[in-house]
Amino acid sequence: MAENIVSPSILSADFANLEDEIKSVTLSGAKWVHIDVMDGHFVPNITIGAPVVKSLKKAVNAILDVHLMIENPDKYIPDFIQAGSDVITFHIEASRAKTNLCIDMIKEAGLLAGISIKPKTKVSEIVPYLDKVDMVLVMTVEPGFSGQIFMPKAASKIAEIKKLAPNLKYIQVDGGINDKTAKTCKNLGANCFVCGNYVFKSDNRKLAVKSILDV
Ligand code: DX5
Ligand code: ZN
Repeated sequence: MAENIVSPSILSADFANLEDEIKSVTLSGAKWVHIDVMDGHFVPNITIGAPVVKSLKKAVNAILDVHLMIENPDKYIPDFIQAGSDVITFHIEASRAKTNLCIDMIKEAGLLAGISIKPKTKVSEIVPYLDKVDMVLVMTVEPGFSGQIFMPKAASKIAEIKKLAPNLKYIQVDGGINDKTAKTCKNLGANCFVCGNYVFKSDNRKLAVKSILDV
């Protein structure tokens, strides 16, 4: 079986020391790093944009896993491609009639394309796109903030996705992931784990990363 992927979310890192923070998790064994982009409209919080991705691309050696929690993702995807993203995930609740366009832009640039669903969104919404994307991101909290409690009901959708798309490259989970909730998600079919607080706020990041790689 292919190994798990851990994607530590920099939302829980010290933004004043982002380069060192990311190096600490890559040295701890994480190959991906998760970058949460929020616009204050799709979610009630504002974080960072493409210029930060561009700087990180030059500074760190990691797969840049960009999670767009923004309205009109089709308008901004070109900027994030240009900035050097490796994986771009957008939300089906935000892309509406432009979903195919979003996927095509990401794929034509040679990146991995992900589509995400919020906890209350049904799997049926993304069925038409399952054979086009590389990854489905199942949100296990309401998007917007780190440090929230994992929602088991949202995670139950993983099994449904796995059944509908057994060959999907990645099923990613995001929100309240730790060694225990990661195990629950792994058993349902997830193989890519976003961790904010669990890794960045840990006293031993190496052990935290390893515990997710080993679930
Ligand atoms: C929430 C973000 C998450 C968040 C995860 O909207 O998408 O990536 O940073 O943080 P934890 O793992 O602390 O719940
Ligand atoms: Zn995220």
